[in-house]
Amino acid sequence: MKYNLLFSILLFILIGGCKDPNPSQTDIDLSNITYEPQSYPLEIGNPLFPFLEQPQDNLLTVDGVDLGRHLFYDPILSDDLSMSCSSCHLPSGSFTDNLALSTGIDGIQGKRSSMSLLNIGFNYRGLFWDGRVATLEEQALLPVEDPIELHALWPEVILRLQDSELYREKFRKAFGISNSSEITKELAAKAMAQFERTLISATGSKFDRSLLGLDAFSPEELLGYEMFFDYYQGTNPEIPDAQCFHCHDQPLFTSNDFENNGLDFANDFEDFADLGFGGTSGIKGDNGKFRIPTLRNIEYTAPYMHDGRFETLEEVIEHYASGGHYSPTKSPFLDSIDLNEQQKLALKAFLLTLSDEDFMQNPEFSDPF
Ligand code: HEC
Ligand code: HEC
Repeated sequence: MKYNLLFSILLFILIGGCKDPNPSQTDIDLSNITYEPQSYPLEIGNPLFPFLEQPQDNLLTVDGVDLGRHLFYDPILSDDLSMSCSSCHLPSGSFTDNLALSTGIDGIQGKRSSMSLLNIGFNYRGLFWDGRVATLEEQALLPVEDPIELHALWPEVILRLQDSELYREKFRKAFGISNSSEITKELAAKAMAQFERTLISATGSKFDRSLLGLDAFSPEELLGYEMFFDYYQGTNPEIPDAQCFHCHDQPLFTSNDFENNGLDFANDFEDFADLGFGGTSGIKGDNGKFRIPTLRNIEYTAPYMHDGRFETLEEVIEHYASGGHYSPTKSPFLDSIDLNEQQKLALKAFLLTLSDEDFMQNPEFSDPF
């Protein structure tokens, strides 16, 4: 009895403690479960929006999106079953975690702020603050093994998925696999990418409704709109050009390009604490540049910037009014703007017209468990 207990403890330590990178796979026939792929009825509903490109080998299907949604919310993807993608990308934060810097399962804090996944499918120019990953399919493979995120091992996670009746059925329905051993990390990533492509905000905000003629800006919002889009281009001294649209243009409110908006002073090209896009491209002139984030739902994604340095939109607007700090890669569009209190409030009022609560409360995007 004693020895049995000791043995069990040893076995527990062996199985739990050391991670076998190649655990054996399961072998369960799934061909009796019906596989009838149906394309996902994606409705963008806003004629100003670009086309949503999808990889030919991963077109959206109803069951693919459903599987991706389950994986996205399931702590089964983390080593100690404590966190999921949604721990850092919460619907209530427009798919951010509302923290300056994200913290993974081991309590280790990263150096960057979580990013909103709103309209993420329209980004074809590189994901992450520094653009280091090209596609959602590639990206979705990374958090699972990242030591500051879910810190698990894919082979172990795959074994858990293969052992789960729920997931065996969902993988069969999404991808037509005929045996549980065909569940792979690549298929899991494809499904998560499909779910992420459905996270679209295109019609629910006051901004969209006003453009579609279903609502109207208040005079304050209109003033903010005119400043944001340089409506008068220097011809009206009452309404200054805030130059925002150069980088945050409609309809996405980001060009998805990489720019330096003057957050930090730097004497020379090497003087940045975080190289940002320069670390990806290897070009000095890109040092200190970061992905231009969308401003849709900006009301709900505080704190702001890649390191969450600003708590409020007022602080962000003060930053832009000041023109930011000198560095050799700072954008020429960052220049001090002479804004009075009323104009600052108007700019903020306009930013709040980009809020889309329906997006955050959309039952299709919520936790399915
Ligand atoms: C511990 C918190 C955390 C977890 C867990 C997490 N993320 Fe993230 N996510 C982040 C942070 C922080 C960034 C920005 C990192 C950077 O730029 O270096 C990010 C960025 C992203 C991006 C890029 C967005 C863009 O606009 O470029 C995608 C997509 C994404 N995460 C999806 C996922 C998926 C899918 C999962 C689960 C498999 C996941 N994340 C799990 C914190 C997290
Ligand atoms: C030269 C391009 C550029 C211009 C012009 C610009 N921005 Fe930005 N904006 C950026 C970049 C790049 C970031 C992210 C910077 C970072 O985190 O390092 C950003 C971030 C932001 C954020 C924080 C977003 C988040 O999710 O953290 C807000 C809010 C914002 N900008 C609003 C504005 C407003 C309002 C204006 C006009 C007054 C403006 N921007 C003008 C490039 C620009």
